[in-house]
Amino acid sequence: MAIYSATVTSPVNIAVIKYWGKRNPSLILPTNSSLSVTLSQDHLSTRTTIACSADFESDRLWLNGVEEDISASKRLVNSIGTARALRASEEAKNPELAPLSQYKIHVCSENNFPTAAGLASSASGYAALVSALGQLFELPQSTAELSRVARVGSGSACRSMFGGFVAWRMGEKEDGEDSMAEQVAERAHWPDLQALILVVSDKKKAVSSTAGMQTTVETSALFAERVRSVVPARMQAMEKAIKERDFAEFAKITMQDSNQFHAVCLDTYPPIAYMNDTSHAVTRIIHAYNAVKGYTAAAYTFDAGPNAVIYAPKSEMRDLVQLFSYLFPRDEDVLPEVFYTNPFGLVGAEEV
Ligand code: ADP
Ligand code: DP6
Ligand code: CO
Repeated sequence: MAIYSATVTSPVNIAVIKYWGKRNPSLILPTNSSLSVTLSQDHLSTRTTIACSADFESDRLWLNGVEEDISASKRLVNSIGTARALRASEEAKNPELAPLSQYKIHVCSENNFPTAAGLASSASGYAALVSALGQLFELPQSTAELSRVARVGSGSACRSMFGGFVAWRMGEKEDGEDSMAEQVAERAHWPDLQALILVVSDKKKAVSSTAGMQTTVETSALFAERVRSVVPARMQAMEKAIKERDFAEFAKITMQDSNQFHAVCLDTYPPIAYMNDTSHAVTRIIHAYNAVKGYTAAAYTFDAGPNAVIYAPKSEMRDLVQLFSYLFPRDEDVLPEVFYTNPFGLVGAEEV
């Protein structure tokens, strides 16, 4: 029997206006729009291969070499099921197509960076899953349409379907038809902007993003205020800053939004602390760095975990890498290669 297969690599994205909160948890419809930068897949990425065959007896998935139970995960069931339904409607239109929608699939996925540690593994993971299904099933849907399928796996994944600067419009419809990603500017629009990743800890976070944001929605008054009066204006200001390549404005909004997101996590009951002492040290170092330079030279942002992403113009990266390598020295054996020139960077910083 024939085996059909497809392999894709998908990048992570790091939000500068954070998604945190669902108005509909099963369809993954957010309480606010968000905006992110998709990083180069040269450094952090997910590689997923999917095969299907009439001979396979069940759907199976291996994540980083360990088999996971697909049926226990609603998000896997939903995203795979949605892609299958799209394939089935193509098969209904064209009887010559092989009945792949009826075959079981085997999925093999590897993240080349820490999973569930606040470096957006669910974003690259579900983007890769849906892109691979799209290729395997030869789906005719546009990237924006497929971003809706990625969204039902993990919200942030819809933004990893595009490169560059990407907005996830929250939409208004109850069925989520208008809740999808859109590229606001290509990567090439602002080549001078680079990112540096500081891996503070590669451990799995204690509270998953899914669980954490649900508790926030239920308990935080600050969160309600953020959604109502802060995020809409920030989305507009951020899009303008990106269009104008205004780094000072981009940096200020990025840092403020990261800080507010973590404040909202602390305002959750019981409180959620994703940042640790090293993370807070990084924020102080960046503000001190900007003060010494006399202009806004760099910005930090933290997702749901302690690891920092520093956005800065290319001209700052050498100083930043040297500074962080000096302040957070690592054993030569475990120091990863330091990338900072092309186009986004990666450096490790051990917990101090
Ligand atoms: P992160 O900050 O890494 O995105 P989350 O709590 O949002 O952390 O999501 C982590 C979860 O996402 C993992 O426990 C796993 O269920 C899922 N995930 C991560 N990578 C993949 C992948 N490559 N394929 C499928 N699911 C993945
Ligand atoms: C802090 O997309 O991981 O990274 O939709 O439940 O899978 P689920 O959550 P997820 O949440 C991401 C939260 C964030 C901010 C962001 O990426 O916008
Ligand atoms: Co995630």
